[in-house]
Amino acid sequence: MDDLNELKTRILAEIAAARDEAALEALRVAAVGKKGEVSLKMRELGKMSPEERKTAGPALNALKDEINAALAARKTALADAALEARLATEWLDVTLPGRPRRDGSVHPVSQVMEEVISIFADMGFAVAEGPQIESDWYNFDALNIPPEHPARQEHDTFFMNRAEGDARPPHVLRTHTSPVQIRHMQAHGAPCRVIAPGRVYRMDMDQTHTPMFHQVEGLAIGEDISMANLKWVLEEFCRAFFEVDEVELRFRASHFPFTEPSAEVDLRCSWEGGQLRVGEGDDWMEILGSGMVHPRVLEAGGIDPEKWQGFAFGLGIDRLAMLKYGIPDLRAFFDSDLRWLRHYGFASLEVPTVHAGLSR
Ligand code: PHE
Repeated sequence: MDDLNELKTRILAEIAAARDEAALEALRVAAVGKKGEVSLKMRELGKMSPEERKTAGPALNALKDEINAALAARKTALADAALEARLATEWLDVTLPGRPRRDGSVHPVSQVMEEVISIFADMGFAVAEGPQIESDWYNFDALNIPPEHPARQEHDTFFMNRAEGDARPPHVLRTHTSPVQIRHMQAHGAPCRVIAPGRVYRMDMDQTHTPMFHQVEGLAIGEDISMANLKWVLEEFCRAFFEVDEVELRFRASHFPFTEPSAEVDLRCSWEGGQLRVGEGDDWMEILGSGMVHPRVLEAGGIDPEKWQGFAFGLGIDRLAMLKYGIPDLRAFFDSDLRWLRHYGFASLEVPTVHAGLSR
């Protein structure tokens, strides 16, 4: 019996010390396998006297059970520990911010759109939208451009086909974002303060023109809104957009059918050494068209021109992007060349805001 106790102490100690399932299995075979130590002892039972067998039999069986139980317990403990270890190494902090990969980037046009939107949002302008396929009424008539007006030709309009026999005037791809003025006035009335960024289309293609490009329309209507307000808003915009302390704008008398008076706006700049510097130098760069909304346009929008007045402007996003980020050829904007996009693109998780910096 003594050597049974010894055997038991040793085997249980070995089981308790086993480091993995393979070691455990080896111990099982060595102890209670067919030729294991305990099994061999059981075989000896046959040679014993009935008296001896009476005590040795149950003792061996008890030992075998105890070893099997210890093996099972150790196995569970090892599996638990392995799971714990795995959980400890495989944990994932789902609250970490995403890691930007260099294979996706924000197109300069989208970047500039976001910048422009955030600057005007800071000045209390909401964003309005309209369709890119427009009726000719919204694109022209409502903006005081009657059918025979020369401005219709100047716009190099893309016309949509009507079904054969349909005599109504064709829809157009909007040639500017100004029709959104009308839609917004009709839907929301006065007073209002909105910008309308979006795509516009004209049949034109060279280094600085593409058949599709982007504009931002601005519209502010109130009871006493004047050109002075327009000037301040545009100066604030240019200061913020070009990220300089001082800018100088020049209002040049111009003509648009939908504004009266109308002004084209130039920005003082220098091109010394091929590098654009805003707010200094002797050059002027035209950046947008603007004016006081024509009374007929207010009427078309359902607003009483006796009571309300306001300003409107339209600026080209793509041109702003070329200027600010030194991009020479507009056509490359829409070639979808990955090398170009990687070079001129912006990190996709940086959202431009006026307070955090627009173009970090
Ligand atoms: N719609 C004009 C254009 O595309 C720009 C403009 C908008 C001018 C609003 C004046 C007022 O050229």
